[in-house]
Amino acid sequence: MSISEILDQIPISGIRRLFELASRMADVINLGIGEPDFDTPEHIKEAAINALKEGYTHYTSNAGLLELREALVEKLRKENNIDVTVDEVLVTVGGEQALVNAIFTTVRRGDEVLILSPSFVSYKPLVMMAGGIPIEVPVKEENEFIPITDDIKKYISKRTKALIINTPCNPTGAVYPRKVLEEIADLAVEYNLIIISDEAYEKIVFEGEHVSMASLNGMKDRVISVFSFSKTYAMTGWRLGYVVARKDLINKMVKLNMYLVTCPVTFVQRAGIAALKGPQDCVKRMVNEYRKRIETVYKRLKEIPGVSVVKPKGTFYIFPNMSSYGKSSEISEYLLYEAKVAVIPGNAFGKYGEGYVRISCATSYEKLIEAMDRIERGLKKLRRV
Ligand SMILES: Cc1ncc(COP(=O)(O)O)c(C=O)c1O
Repeated sequence: MSISEILDQIPISGIRRLFELASRMADVINLGIGEPDFDTPEHIKEAAINALKEGYTHYTSNAGLLELREALVEKLRKENNIDVTVDEVLVTVGGEQALVNAIFTTVRRGDEVLILSPSFVSYKPLVMMAGGIPIEVPVKEENEFIPITDDIKKYISKRTKALIINTPCNPTGAVYPRKVLEEIADLAVEYNLIIISDEAYEKIVFEGEHVSMASLNGMKDRVISVFSFSKTYAMTGWRLGYVVARKDLINKMVKLNMYLVTCPVTFVQRAGIAALKGPQDCVKRMVNEYRKRIETVYKRLKEIPGVSVVKPKGTFYIFPNMSSYGKSSEISEYLLYEAKVAVIPGNAFGKYGEGYVRISCATSYEKLIEAMDRIERGLKKLRRV
């Protein structure tokens, strides 16, 4: 099938549908948004403005500015424990294009790709566009949304090419422990799988540590790591990310950059250097604020009868189970119309997200409290009906 034909088959995402409904209503508190509510730190903005004034208004190499890739190599070594050269890093238009590059350069027609479900909405359509077959592997609430390798094993076939992991995880907030990543690494070696490791939320961790799959012993050549500036530095609109992989794969990705985007925006790449080399206390401040919000929302959700919830260890999302109130889409529509709060139905993140909703805490503390009051009142009413 052609990409055009596959696009005809891909349904509009559950997130967009809900946003369209919400946009037609007044006084809605939107807890559906998947991006930081903070503004990009001032020194990063200044770097972009200066770059424009200094004439960084031309194409860069397809792989991205050398100076940025050098800064990334340094960051990867110091912060992720991944040892690479500039030829193993490629700058992309957001983490999203890093995912496109990772999937399009590895997945061939008929290849099966394991996706831990519930998962970020892009994986499945991208695998389909590449001609692959997405296979959803359930990750369960009773295991705090941490994958179990024996469960993954059940879904491996002769056609399995790759496994996509995402830690810290959107939508569950799970942060995979080192031991679990080591077990997944062993599985990948045993079955000769490529691992695509989406680490877009690497810095938003409240409990435990973020471990990069590519840092584990012997895994570097088997892992394609996807990173983003979006969530760490509140830079979603700047569209800057990067992908780290074996040189032969990066060489293929250079062709994708060349024919899809040429290169990420040049003055944005300069701002990326400032983000990496500048003060990091802005990141700490944002993470502390997310932590405070998540803790409050977690406590409030736990008090609601019929709702169960796992405490997120990272990201700014929380993923309560509201299945005793109905299906995900029914609950999110009810909360929108009755409580005037927009949350994302869990089934937007895959079939194993059914019965859940995703609440984003990337909204001010005051608004979150008001939203929780509304949700509590709304669900109470539903219990009485
Ligand atoms: C898990 C995950 N990966 C990747 C992305 C892509 O982000 P961006 O393209 O803004 O870097 C997102 C965005 O929400 C995400 O949640």
